[in-house]
Amino acid sequence: MSTPREISYPTYLKLDRLLDLQHPESKPEHPDELLFIVVHQASELWFKVILHEFDRLVDRLQAFDTEGALTVMQRINTLVDLVAHELSALDTLPPQRFMQFRGYLGTSSGSQSAQFRAIEATSGLRDAHFMAALKEHGPLPAPVARALERPTLQALFLALLAHERVTLEAIYTEPGHTLLQMLAEAFLAYEQGFARWRFLHVQLVERIIGPDTGGTGGTLGARYLQKTISQRFFPELWAVRARLYGR
Ligand code: HEM
Repeated sequence: MSTPREISYPTYLKLDRLLDLQHPESKPEHPDELLFIVVHQASELWFKVILHEFDRLVDRLQAFDTEGALTVMQRINTLVDLVAHELSALDTLPPQRFMQFRGYLGTSSGSQSAQFRAIEATSGLRDAHFMAALKEHGPLPAPVARALERPTLQALFLALLAHERVTLEAIYTEPGHTLLQMLAEAFLAYEQGFARWRFLHVQLVERIIGPDTGGTGGTLGARYLQKTISQRFFPELWAVRARLYGR
């Protein structure tokens, strides 16, 4: 192991290895493929950090530490915004140029991203459609299996409320629950941020391959992606509004 003295910027960040992980498949190399790879790789790195922060979040929620959970959620929300914004780099990829190297991507598809699925599963997606889509690509990847073993974020939040002897209605109608309400709102901000990623991604997809084209893996493409935008991780948090303030 190196001593702190021997550590420098390139060694600490393992830049030799990191910068040697971008290998365009197109031959001759297409000038836009590097950007395509880097946006995906950078997104996967942010997914890694988000999953890491989820470990802390679950830990804080299970310890009934509302303030700690709120702090982690604020970071997660910033990361989700960031990963959504990053998609805009690919808005500069016109359709005809993507077609020039798309064939080299083989059957790869973003729907094979185990980390993305783990984020969804941790957040609360567990429905039959989600599980069926997961199984399409063979055995469950380890991060997904691990995420599915935990209670959903909504279940953890409701357990926190039960521990505090407060109901979901009360945090919106009674004074004295500021932190719990801030945490609930941070969960909704997360839901919105995630849906924004889905929306920006489907727009990107439609802009590049159109609304009716299937994915590289022979999958359903933008039409399927459109449907995912309305999925909810925190149905109870949306429902409480309707119960309290809906007509
Ligand atoms: C040229 C840009 C892109 C195109 C044309 C594209 C296309 C697609 C398509 C068609 C799908 C639907 C599944 C399928 O039919 O294969 C999909 C899913 C997905 N893509 Fe992309 N994508 C692009 C950029 C990105 C980027 C930068 C990321 C970042 C990691 C990403 C991550 C994903 C994920 C996670 C899914 C699964 C979404 C879900 O099932 O809800 N994609 N993509």
